[in-house]
Amino acid sequence: MSADTPTPKFTGVLGWIDYRLPVISWGYKELVAYPTPKNLNYFWNFGSLAGIFLVLQIVTGIVLVMHYTPHADMAFSSIEHIMRNVNYGWLIRYAHANGASFFFIVVYIHIFRGLYYGSYKEPRELLWILGVIILILMMATAFTGYVLPWGQMSFWAATVIVNLFSAIPLVGDSLVTWLLGGFSVGNPTLQRFFSLHYLMPFAIFAVVFLHILALHEHGSNNPVGIDLTKKDKIPFHPYYTVKDVFGLFVALLFFGAFVFFAPNVLGHADNYIPADPLVTPAHIVPEWYFLPFYAILRSITFDIGIFGFTLIDAKLGGVIAMFGAVLVLFFLPWLDTSKVRSATYRPIYFWAFWILLADVVILTYTGAMPAEGIWPTVALIGTIYYFFHFLVLLPLLGRFEKPKPVPESINKPVLPRAAPAGPQAQPAE
Ligand code: HEM
Repeated sequence: MSADTPTPKFTGVLGWIDYRLPVISWGYKELVAYPTPKNLNYFWNFGSLAGIFLVLQIVTGIVLVMHYTPHADMAFSSIEHIMRNVNYGWLIRYAHANGASFFFIVVYIHIFRGLYYGSYKEPRELLWILGVIILILMMATAFTGYVLPWGQMSFWAATVIVNLFSAIPLVGDSLVTWLLGGFSVGNPTLQRFFSLHYLMPFAIFAVVFLHILALHEHGSNNPVGIDLTKKDKIPFHPYYTVKDVFGLFVALLFFGAFVFFAPNVLGHADNYIPADPLVTPAHIVPEWYFLPFYAILRSITFDIGIFGFTLIDAKLGGVIAMFGAVLVLFFLPWLDTSKVRSATYRPIYFWAFWILLADVVILTYTGAMPAEGIWPTVALIGTIYYFFHFLVLLPLLGRFEKPKPVPESINKPVLPRAAPAGPQAQPAE
């Protein structure tokens, strides 16, 4: 089957609709015929998986809201009501809470896949930038959502994170009051967070739509990282629909294991204690997917200045570093100056990639540790390396690294390993 499957002429009801509103032929072109590289590996499953987890979050979220009460006096007990009284309420809630974690792990793998194979490079810069916008929206959604159960961690995480904005010179304090809807976290905070938490997934959905449009404009990248011809591609359906469904079932095995057998492992026990403004928990820690950023936030423990003048105090420094860690991703397509996409053909970048991954894992672990002993130093080293990778190493590597020869076609890396030509190797008539 060739990749350029022509769009069929639809008849009957489909034809009637398509003549007036060509959504059916558009859907066919984008989801059935879409010419997809033949050589995609399983790392290319994570985009569709992310889409499925997004839909799962929206569906379970809408059902939860049918029973949840967004008020500081009732939020905590309405969650207990969902867990105990609502039919399968426990399942919907555990699926939503663990679904958030799975959404992040899937998207983090999706991002690291992009980093390894250089999928952000020309002509996919805007596709990547839309991805970073999605990531920021996901973080805002997860943060506002975590406040809704109104447990101790909800309350204190909101207190710590919103108060970070007070570090911004001049407007900081007013900004905090504006975000909280008062002088401390309270009912107005809960209500605005609830409103935004409901809204943002739909904004994510819209940006994902643009993300896919941008992807389909120039087609998917592939593990070899070279531009492909039509004969290197196959239609998305049935080849990749089947592969994506297989990936989904594997992901659901893991997801089911958490939801049914360890539903609270990824959460924090303190969030089963109702929010109490008078009792601060011993360690305020965010959900695991925020830990690397939390470590970066806490890594700056000193004021930065010259001649005794403080230009940036420690708190503002931490805030700049934390937001900078995400914002730097916007510039990645231009910071990485190498013309070669795939790390397979970049001997030094290959190691830089794995060191960056290790660095992020170390930062994640550090974020869960109390900010004392060796941990602030570990966090600082991890943070410095993170920025060194993006701001120094990548721009220089493009100039000094000697890439391995990149194959002219995706068949080259495969063919030398194929069976020697013989009668059985002849193409079928
Ligand atoms: C809701 C979250 C997201 C969804 C549903 C989503 C969906 C998808 C889908 C379906 C694809 C095509 C299949 C694939 O290549 O895996 C894709 C490709 C891509 N995505 Fe995402 N994505 C999301 C988040 C992100 C983020 C956060 C980034 C980066 C910061 C990103 C960067 C990319 C890139 C660069 C590609 C092209 C990959 C290639 O062709 O090699 N995506 N995305």
